[in-house]
Amino acid sequence: MIVATRTVAVVPSLLAGDLARLGEQLDVVKSAGCRWLSVDVMDGHFVPNLSFGPDFVRLAKAKGFYVDAHLMVSNPLVVAPWFVAAHADIVTVHLEAVDAAVDALKKIKAFGAKAGLAIKPKTPVDGLLAALGECDLALVMTVEPGFGGQKFMADMMPKVAALRREIDAKRHQCWIQVDGGVNSSNIAQCAAAGADSLVAGSAVFAAEDPAAAFRELELKARAAFKPQQP
Ligand code: DX5
Repeated sequence: MIVATRTVAVVPSLLAGDLARLGEQLDVVKSAGCRWLSVDVMDGHFVPNLSFGPDFVRLAKAKGFYVDAHLMVSNPLVVAPWFVAAHADIVTVHLEAVDAAVDALKKIKAFGAKAGLAIKPKTPVDGLLAALGECDLALVMTVEPGFGGQKFMADMMPKVAALRREIDAKRHQCWIQVDGGVNSSNIAQCAAAGADSLVAGSAVFAAEDPAAAFRELELKARAAFKPQQP
């Protein structure tokens, strides 16, 4: 079980996995020390792509992983219970897809999961800052959501730094997650900015050796990570 103490986690995302041998690939990253996976859920409406249903969360849970379900959908509070029923540990919704962020986060917790809130690159960080007290996870997208393998947007780092300052000042127990284009050349920058949950799809599952890729990402993230000052 992952607890929200100030450590840093590299979180492979299933979107980049090879569906023909996904189970095997999960065993490989688990052997490399991976404990947390992210499942990208896309509805073809909020984002121009379709991806996974709750059964992929069940697969990851059956293999013993901690799992966040990242709902890139237009009706997150309708589908959230399906992913809670699949035992997702965290369900993350987009600020852009809910009427009231704090209310949505409370509903997800009432369904029975920890609650995350995500923002797309064009969305200012203010809405996320305002809801932090209710967040178990705050997700800053570093690509336009919908597809893996895109280029990392370094200009999103000030959002991460602003979240880090607020979380540390108010002692919130909240992960700061970055998702999109994270790889060995920019993961240190993400960790140094204050992110402690780093989603990496292609950088892990499209690598020649996913286990080695995971270990390298974890090493670089840990070296750059600044634990919270007491
Ligand atoms: C975008 C997805 C991707 C995925 C990570 O909607 O959320 O960011 O998780 O894919 P990579 O690491 O390949 O960008």
